[in-house]
Amino acid sequence: MSSAEIRQCFLNFFTCRGHKVVPSSSLVPDDPSVLLTTAGMQQFKKYYLEPDVAERDLETRNIVSIQKSFRTSDIDEVGDDSHLTFFEMLGNFSFGGYFKKEAIELAYEFITRELSLTVDYVTIFAGDDQVSLDGESKKIWQTLGVKDVRERGRADNFWGPTGAEGPCGPTTEIYVNNLEIWNLVFNEYYCRPNKTLEPLTSSGVDTGMGLERLAMAVQGQNNIFGTDLFTPLLASLSDALPLRI
Ligand code: GLY
Repeated sequence: MSSAEIRQCFLNFFTCRGHKVVPSSSLVPDDPSVLLTTAGMQQFKKYYLEPDVAERDLETRNIVSIQKSFRTSDIDEVGDDSHLTFFEMLGNFSFGGYFKKEAIELAYEFITRELSLTVDYVTIFAGDDQVSLDGESKKIWQTLGVKDVRERGRADNFWGPTGAEGPCGPTTEIYVNNLEIWNLVFNEYYCRPNKTLEPLTSSGVDTGMGLERLAMAVQGQNNIFGTDLFTPLLASLSDALPLRI
């Protein structure tokens, strides 16, 4: 499957399941607390606080998008097999429409049935002094037949906010070929600039899956540079700039 087919397959899968496609927002966001757009949820931040406004503005509570994103949080790993600064993020979102069960079931169906990939293991939030262990997600995965459910702490399995404040919550991550492919965030809190967490009145879903990593798994490549997202560029570069050793 080409990367163009993966994009279309993702959008089709979620539109057939009641999601509306919203185009990628600009890489330069409205949000003054960040320089560049780092996640698909960024253009939807306000809707997690006011799902009724989402319903009014978007005529739905469930969205799918492919967001141009730029991240430097893992800059030390950029240049290895699977980390980039710029990437495309496939995401589905719900603002008070559905929550953990539906989000996990949809992700599992997409990975295993649409793409015929195998889930090696998943991770869930282990809990800490502020937020308890995400036993609900663990049970949902086990019901789906995923036996290897690993518990991880805040650094790995708690996401957000983008910028100084905003929605955030525990996550569950899906690993394929031992690589983190998809992050499902369950926004249950609002993080204030002083880092205190306040429960949101309505829980929401925010997922992010890097197209380049997914293409790597689908196309059976060992690194992102072997996917069809990079090979034409690399070929034209080597034509233009022949290496002389
Ligand atoms: N917002 C989810 C993610 O970026 O992983």
